[in-house]
Amino acid sequence: MKITILNGSPKGNESITMQYAKFVQKHFPDHEFIYHNISQKIKRIEKNKDIFDKIIADVESSDGVIWSAPVYTLFVPTQYMRFIELIHERDAVKAFKGKYATVITTSIHFYDHTAHRYMNAICDDLGMNYTGYFSAEMNDLLRSSGRNKLLIFSNNFFNSIENRTKPQKRFQPIVKKNFIFKPEKTLKRVDLKGKKVVVVTDNNDQESNTAKMIGKFLDSFTEPVELVNLREINIKGGCLGCLSCGYDNVCVYKDDFTSMYQSKILPADIVIIATELNLRNFSAKLKEFYDRRFFLNHRPEYKDKQYGVMVSGPIDQMPYMDDFFQGVVEWQNTNIVGIVRDESCDQDEINRGIQQLAENCISFSETGYCQPPTFLGVGGKKVFRDDIWGQLRSVCQADYRYYKNNGLFNFPQTKYKNRVFNSTIMLLTKIPGIRKKFYKKLNKVIYQPHKKIAETR
Ligand SMILES: Cc1cc2nc3c(=O)[nH]c(=O)nc-3n(C[C@H](O)[C@H](O)[C@H](O)COP(=O)(O)O)c2cc1C
Repeated sequence: MKITILNGSPKGNESITMQYAKFVQKHFPDHEFIYHNISQKIKRIEKNKDIFDKIIADVESSDGVIWSAPVYTLFVPTQYMRFIELIHERDAVKAFKGKYATVITTSIHFYDHTAHRYMNAICDDLGMNYTGYFSAEMNDLLRSSGRNKLLIFSNNFFNSIENRTKPQKRFQPIVKKNFIFKPEKTLKRVDLKGKKVVVVTDNNDQESNTAKMIGKFLDSFTEPVELVNLREINIKGGCLGCLSCGYDNVCVYKDDFTSMYQSKILPADIVIIATELNLRNFSAKLKEFYDRRFFLNHRPEYKDKQYGVMVSGPIDQMPYMDDFFQGVVEWQNTNIVGIVRDESCDQDEINRGIQQLAENCISFSETGYCQPPTFLGVGGKKVFRDDIWGQLRSVCQADYRYYKNNGLFNFPQTKYKNRVFNSTIMLLTKIPGIRKKFYKKLNKVIYQPHKKIAETR
């Protein structure tokens, strides 16, 4: 069997993810493995059509394709997303049709599920027989249980190809609506009240709904608001994953990204993202913005900011997108003001949504409101806290210092009152009589303090 590996790590052969593919190859010597370092060579793939065509020819002559990539900012790396755009731009979709596909990622399990759903959608759109994913924790290959799981998974993948199984599709083709948004004249403009608002966009079409939504939003205020168009900034490429920034948050790139981020994003009170969804996601250009902010590693630079999104396109047919927009900042103690969409095709509703976004981001910013985080934020925060304290500490030293200085290593072990309470109760409830009484009165014990507050404060 011929298997093509499309490696999504910008580190190419010297990446963790690549070792998973090599390990599979070693244990299945009867199959032929062809490797392409997609993300590492993306600039050459873009410039030189022959290189792109060679990859596509390998896919076309393969029995199976392994999309193998690290999770980068809740999806896959910028460069990999750019390759997916190229497949469509260069009319190479048919090479993928009917091919058996699987996705292998490595990560620290922070929103690996959004990355996998996105890749599932990509495979379905390409007409591939997507057989499922393998989401490895980055160090799983070092554990015998991780290696065993990978081998069983790979064996199942090869069996699917051999037996020509027909997997069910998860995503139906996108249904596009031809709707043109008509911004209404703003009757009541919102006072900025000294708040710094920045709109970040990847928009490159002045006639698009995104451009019109941005125009309407900017027009909602009494004073000018900063607009950052990523297409107009000198950004040389996606994050390389080199982790040089781990010690002191300095990026190896010599372009204008860091200075833009430091001068426009960090000082802002309110950040609004405006984008259009195509090919199951926003553009690789906007992904570059999210990936390149990694020079700050896991520092919550959006802390206490207000965050909003204006999105054009079929977001409801991309169920992972809400998780992305919420998850990308919710772990930082950031208030999500709202996600305005044009999907309803209802002029009034969209106009009102934009006006409300403008009003709410200022009023929430003034009161310092941040809604309590959901599981997306609470869970994400704990993944980072544990990994920065543990396996990432020596690499992400700037994170470690920041988390330590800001009391973010708030493990339950340090809550001594809880520990004493728990130990005492656990000891006492070993006695059947006390146990019976404790569980009988449990609800009262739990809600009583809340009742007291509700009555007295
Ligand atoms: C820019 C960047 C963004 C990342 N984003 C995520 C993420 O959102 N979720 C996650 O679990 N891991 C994330 N990681 C960690 C990588 O997925 C992980 O270290 C992976 O194993 C690296 O694989 P590689 O050596 O093949 O590139 C990120 C790493 C980098 C450099």
